[in-house]
Amino acid sequence: MTPEEALAEMSRLAAEIERHNRLYYEEADPEIADAEYDRLFRTLEELESGFPDLARPNSPTRRVGGAPLKGFVQRAHPVPMLSIDDLFSEGELADFYARLQRGLGRAEVAVTVEPKIDGVAVALHYRDGELEWAVTRGDGAVGDVITENVRTIRRVPLRLAEGAPSLLEVRGEIFLPKETFARLNRARDEAGLPAFKNPRNAAAGTLKLLDSREVARRPLDFLAHGHGLIEGLVAASSDELAGELARLGLPWNGPVWRAGSFEEVLAAVRELDVMRHSLPYETDGAVVKVVDFAAREALGTTARAPRWAAAFKYPPEQQETVLRGITVQVGRTGTLTPVAELDPVLVSGSTVRRATLHNQDEIDRQDVRIGDTVVIEKAGEIIPAVVRVVLEKRPADAVRYDLHEAIGGRCPACGGEVAREAGFVAWKCRNPSCPAKTANRLRQLVGRKALDIEGVGSIVAEKLVERGLVADPLDLFSIEADTLAVLNLGTETEPRVLGAKNAAKIVETAARAREMPLHRWLFGLGFPQVGESAAKELARLHRNLDELADSALLRELRTFATGQRKEDSELLAPYGIASEVGPAVAASVTEFFESDVGAVLRERLRALGVDPQSANYAPLAPVDAGGGSSGAAGRTFVITGTLSAPREDIKERIEAAGGKVSGSVSKKTDYLVAGEGGGSKLEKANSLGVAVIDEAGLAELLSGDIDSAPEEE
Ligand code: IVH
Repeated sequence: MTPEEALAEMSRLAAEIERHNRLYYEEADPEIADAEYDRLFRTLEELESGFPDLARPNSPTRRVGGAPLKGFVQRAHPVPMLSIDDLFSEGELADFYARLQRGLGRAEVAVTVEPKIDGVAVALHYRDGELEWAVTRGDGAVGDVITENVRTIRRVPLRLAEGAPSLLEVRGEIFLPKETFARLNRARDEAGLPAFKNPRNAAAGTLKLLDSREVARRPLDFLAHGHGLIEGLVAASSDELAGELARLGLPWNGPVWRAGSFEEVLAAVRELDVMRHSLPYETDGAVVKVVDFAAREALGTTARAPRWAAAFKYPPEQQETVLRGITVQVGRTGTLTPVAELDPVLVSGSTVRRATLHNQDEIDRQDVRIGDTVVIEKAGEIIPAVVRVVLEKRPADAVRYDLHEAIGGRCPACGGEVAREAGFVAWKCRNPSCPAKTANRLRQLVGRKALDIEGVGSIVAEKLVERGLVADPLDLFSIEADTLAVLNLGTETEPRVLGAKNAAKIVETAARAREMPLHRWLFGLGFPQVGESAAKELARLHRNLDELADSALLRELRTFATGQRKEDSELLAPYGIASEVGPAVAASVTEFFESDVGAVLRERLRALGVDPQSANYAPLAPVDAGGGSSGAAGRTFVITGTLSAPREDIKERIEAAGGKVSGSVSKKTDYLVAGEGGGSKLEKANSLGVAVIDEAGLAELLSGDIDSAPEEE
């Protein structure tokens, strides 16, 4: 075969394979059997290996993924990828439609209503019909180039059909279909990996993998719902554009309703609510968009979002089911949590069998009894909860529940003594070596925000403790891979071992974890009161565990235990400390290091050769009068409106100067940093007399030019 012949044949095969992909995925109407498809595929592969120089980068054979990348490259969006305004009630939806009518000066505004896909936004750039780039939304202005990973998605055409425009930027959503998600999580659970919380997290996590061969193993999907820059194609409306794109082989999101009045919009939104659970992807809303492009232009955009589109958010779904029993879970610190065991019920697309009852007070307040019909709610990522009892359906034999009585006054995991601390509602297991506590402490240590050790899911953690391999979470560091490999995750009669591959992964990531920075270790070790942000703040003020254990600062802070939390930030400001580290945290940490348990921990870490160092060490000199240090230290900020940099960046700058950023305005707020269009927060700040500054004001404050906080009222 001559190179010319080979090239022609490769091109024919590629087009043929892409056509079959389309028939299979788009139209669900394959023309050929899988075996025939595989044969075409293999023929193309063989030709390409015979003529490697002639193989196209966009060949369908390249979907399986190439060599891993070192990192992602960034790329600016030619047209910003905006956000979308949310509408939380039918009233807000009516207001939105009325704004469209007013804005366009007419009663009938044609809009579409379609599902909001819970996935990862992406822009696909096609040049002369060939996929050139795939870029994530990023901060809306600049995103990550993920072309290699996107190539693995069968539904994304690598090459468009005949007649493609010279430049076409299609926008849409990459998602993991619900079914694939369930399968992936089952496999992860079996491999001892932590389950993904929801399909969106799973899709986002997958797209961040640097090895596209790994991505190819998780079948992501894609649907288009919009566009960016286009050259060489004229469309006057989303209808026209959708038609063109479909013809070019791009999958368009659906079902799409058309509406010309508010009543029709409402009807569509309600219909979608009924059928959305049978869609292949997770959705929590309906997107309403103006159809006509000239009308979109006329309405324009705010800095954040277009005025011609909005997302109606469905309220969290509630379902009725019967509460058959109550079991008790033992947490990391020994807290006993009552859990409702329910008749399985489908909520927001997943089967719910258990829901939290929080604590005895909640059970009493709601008067939940065993046998009751209860309403449970599940909102997105949140753990299902019992929200109320349907009293009309209470059977005569419904039984009251008392946790302490039910457990016979003993920890259900270890049989140890339980107690209630003064002022607290929860019962706690007092046995320091309770296996349930140890397993959950191990889970905390290996968690994603702590040491990020892969492969220690809840089953593996439980079994490690049960089989006596882990009596203390740090024991994980001394287990040999051979021992781990034969860990029985099943029962005596039906054994199922962890396996060499999983064992190797645990040992490998655990070895890497030794070098993790101080704040991750602090969070992972799980001191009482020390959450993620307190851990970071402690690491900012101390270089390592030795400094922390001998910290004069913490000992002094501990004496501030006034019990008046609201004064913490004023007390702490002179030390340049944000209020994450108040007297309570200081007391918890110092007490720990003064205790025998603390001494043992330090000894063990020394023996393991682990000496975590701070990655964000930046203590501030005390702010004395005219000391020239930043006026942000110890102050609480709230950010609103559109600013010149992403909010996360501004937050980082404030935190680096010792300030704290909170999400909502209250009397405790020192400054509201307001960009363009800060609505309700600005009003609230004004009504509370909170100082409002702009970006320039913030810059001055951070550079230390302003030395005093706003006057107290
Ligand atoms: S249209 C510029 N339609 O929601 C606003 N967005 O938009 C027009 N999203 O991350 C967006 N499903 O990627 C539109 N059917 C849909 C969508 C959708 C999901 C995402 C979008 C973006 C966010 C806000």
